[in-house]
Parts: sequence; structure tokens; C-alpha cells
Amino acid sequence: MGETKTTRGMKLLAGNSNRPLAEAIAQYLRLPLTKAVVRRFADMEIFVEIQENVRGEDIFVIQSTSFPANDNLMELLIIIDALRRASARRITAVIPYFGYARQDRKVGPRTPISAKLVANLITQAGANRVLTVDLHAGQIQGFFDIPTDNLYAMPAITKDIKDYLGVGDHLMVVSPDVGGVLRARALAKRLGGDLAIVDKRRERAGESEVMNIIGDVKGRSCILVDDIVDSGGTICNAAEALMKAGAKDVCAYASHGVLSGGAVARVQSSVLKSMVITDSIAATDGVAKCHNIRRISIAPLIGEAMRRINNEESVSSLFD
Ligand code: R5P
Repeated sequence: MGETKTTRGMKLLAGNSNRPLAEAIAQYLRLPLTKAVVRRFADMEIFVEIQENVRGEDIFVIQSTSFPANDNLMELLIIIDALRRASARRITAVIPYFGYARQDRKVGPRTPISAKLVANLITQAGANRVLTVDLHAGQIQGFFDIPTDNLYAMPAITKDIKDYLGVGDHLMVVSPDVGGVLRARALAKRLGGDLAIVDKRRERAGESEVMNIIGDVKGRSCILVDDIVDSGGTICNAAEALMKAGAKDVCAYASHGVLSGGAVARVQSSVLKSMVITDSIAATDGVAKCHNIRRISIAPLIGEAMRRINNEESVSSLFD
């Protein structure tokens, strides 16, 4: 990606949700992180102080709204407010993992659309642009009335598969549910391989789910692909169903390792040979130590997109 890292009036600021990723982006762009303190009052209210002049600057605030989602979101909003009041020229909220994205529609009467509410909060706080990665649903871009770039981890995932698993007929890309077919098909196309689908069905309320596999996975090395691994239930159950259907082995790729509760233990004791996630969410110790979880960095992807935004260059051409 871009050999010249020319930037103009660009400043980076990191919240506390994912410092390692922010530092890796800063390294890619060869820029320091702007000095700022994000502190807590005794009652846990957040206080932010930007310790450098940002007047007239093109500022990028890097903050995933991952666990603890509410604290990290509030921190992002308060940082944006501080920057706006400090007369930053343009504020881009860089949200590698956009929490609340799964609440993107009313799932029943009298329920919220929290993804839209979060988009409103970020805009109202003073963000001029948003940069994110693999939104749970692309339409969430439309929840923002400010320019929103949605990057794809797919090129990094494809490269990792080629490096670690090779290419060829032995591979079979698998969507762990019907909702993820588009994503899986795009990966299968990139790899020039076949596609299978795990179709989860609960025949009757209260009965356990039946996993039907659409496609013949016998003897194949299966690659499950999803955007989010949260409890790990979807991916681990799908892996088990694939092994039962005669797959040779199963690896999984996901853009966002949310990994809540006992997810790491579940992945560790699952049939998955490996699970690869990006660094959109900071790794816990458990994730870092887990024998079958590996992480790939999307810092160069995000850094390059930021450089292009700063230089008013095309971001979509990153994926040509
Ligand atoms: C669902 O629509 C998403 O794409 C993921 O499949 C889901 O969020 C994974 O959740 P869990 O790991 O808890 O099964």
C-alpha cells in the first residue's frame, strides 16, 4: 500500500479501547499520537483533555466501540466534543469495530434501532466523517448523514488464507449461516473455490437446532467466514456440523473477535483447527494465549484509508 505516506495537517488521537491498533496505525503513517489524557472522576464520569493545539487540523480519532461498549462509546463522543470545541477543522471517527451494529432494525414491537441512535450520537457530538471496517450490515452507512467509509478486511483475510492454507480444490469456503452467504461467496470468488452453507433450523420452538449442510464438504478443508464471533456459538457449532459431515478439517476467519463470556474457552475446546481474527478489537490475555486463535493486523488498511482521506484520494480504489 502507498509507498509515500505524505500527510497534510493530519493528527491522530487514540481513545483507550485499542491502543495497540492505534499505535500500529500511527507507525504506518509515521505520525505520533496526539497527546491527550482521558481520565475518570471518582464517580467514573469521563474527562478528556487534548494537550496539543488542534486548531484547523484534520483529526482522526481511533476508537472501537467494543466491550465495554458504553464506556468506549461515551469516551469517543467526549473526545469528539473536546476536539470540536478546540476548533479542529475536520474530525473523522475511526471506528474499526462499530458496536451496536447488530441492532440495525426493529426486531419486534416497541424495540429500538440502537445502531441508528449511535450514528446520531456520533454525528451530533461533532464528527464530520466516519471510517469503519466490515459493518455488520452495509446499510448502516445510511444511518449516518455524514460521509462514511466502510473498509473490508477481505483482502487481508484472502492473503492469510493463501499464505497459510494455499489455494486449490481441497478448500471449501463455508458460510456459518444463511445471512452470511454474500460474504462467503465473495471469499470463494477471490479464492476461485467452492461454497457451502450451514443452514441452521429449529423445527419446533424449544427443540435444538438442526444443522443442514448445503454442499458436499467430504474430505475438504473448510474455511468458515463470518463478520463477528461473539459467544463463538455460531462458528463452533458450524465447525462441528462440518466435521460430522465428513470435512477433513475446519478453520475460521472473522473480521471482529468480540469473544464475550466463555467464547475463548469455547473456541479452544472446539474442533476448529484455527480461528483467525483481525485486531479491530484489542486482544485480551485469554485471546493472546489461546492456541488456536491467531490475529492479523488491519492497521495498514486503516492507515492507508486515513492517508487517502487526508489527501482527498479515492478510498474505494483500495479494493480494486
Ligand atoms: C450474525 O448475524 C453475525 O454475523 C454472527 O454470526 C454472530 O454475531 C455471531 O455470534 P455468536 O458468536 O454469539 O454466535
